[in-house]
Amino acid sequence: MHTLLLIDDDPDVLATLTRSFRKGYKTLSANGGEAGIAFLNEQPVDLVICDQRMPNISGDQVLGHALQVQPDAIRILLTGYADVESLLTCVNEAHIYKYVTKPWDPAELNLTVVRALEALVLKRNLDTAREQLEIAYKDAVMMLCLAAEGKDQDTSSHLQRVQYYTEALAIAMGVDSKAAAHMGLMSMLHDIGKLATPDAILKKPDKLSPEEWDVMKEHSLSGVRILGNNPFYETAREISAGHHENYDGSGYPHGLSGDDIPLSARIVKIVDVFDALTTQRPYKQPWPMETAMAHIESHAGMMFDPEVVEKLKTLFADGTLTRIKSVF
Ligand SMILES: [Fe+2]
Ligand SMILES: [Fe+2]
Repeated sequence: MHTLLLIDDDPDVLATLTRSFRKGYKTLSANGGEAGIAFLNEQPVDLVICDQRMPNISGDQVLGHALQVQPDAIRILLTGYADVESLLTCVNEAHIYKYVTKPWDPAELNLTVVRALEALVLKRNLDTAREQLEIAYKDAVMMLCLAAEGKDQDTSSHLQRVQYYTEALAIAMGVDSKAAAHMGLMSMLHDIGKLATPDAILKKPDKLSPEEWDVMKEHSLSGVRILGNNPFYETAREISAGHHENYDGSGYPHGLSGDDIPLSARIVKIVDVFDALTTQRPYKQPWPMETAMAHIESHAGMMFDPEVVEKLKTLFADGTLTRIKSVF
């Protein structure tokens, strides 16, 4: 059952409203703006009907507050007179669903409420579907990583550290938090192309011959192929294609340089190397972070984007890198 919050300083109006909605809804009656705000702060509601002209606090202010604390709830304003200015404020600042002029037609108000709540249910269903879809996409990334894990020396903890280092670096580079989190998730797929690399090369204990090395390098573009053409994986494709490009143009597969390499790939390149240096691998002991930072710094402008190197230094100095490493 939906909950309706009815707000009016006139007890008679409030009683009339309550009577007309008591059947079929849970109604909360607030005698005035302050009482309305108190309800909004304490109880989740689905729809608010609020009078405009009340002492101390006006309807547009109450609905503006509703937008802040319960943005999902539908807001309807009752106006006793044609107050154009407050209506404008309300439409602009409180994003009201509709205004109804007093005296109102009960059947019309009732229909307005029914329609508004139908829209609310639809929106909530859509939100749930979108969330489920997002979870499914994330699961697909994890499944791919899991499938690739047995193939490569990369472990899931490497991928998780890469994910969170990438997210932190992206934020430091000015990427908004949602896009940065997405970039982090997509970074886990940087070496997915190794699924297509023959085990004889991938797991060869000795040095690779130049021909074998050429096959190894193909994993960048194999990844792009595996990642298909769904727009959701665009960043993952950028990262797979570009994480072995060098800032000075000496990398592979395309020899791109500078800003021609997508930011996501420039970030993951540094992060991937940083993590390889600071963790144990079959062929090496972990380097202390200071040593790894100095190594990366000495390659700024050659392998790495100097600006991203600077941001990495900041994240090292403020303890972010240490914190992420200690979790995974
Ligand atoms: Fe790679
Ligand atoms: Fe890696």
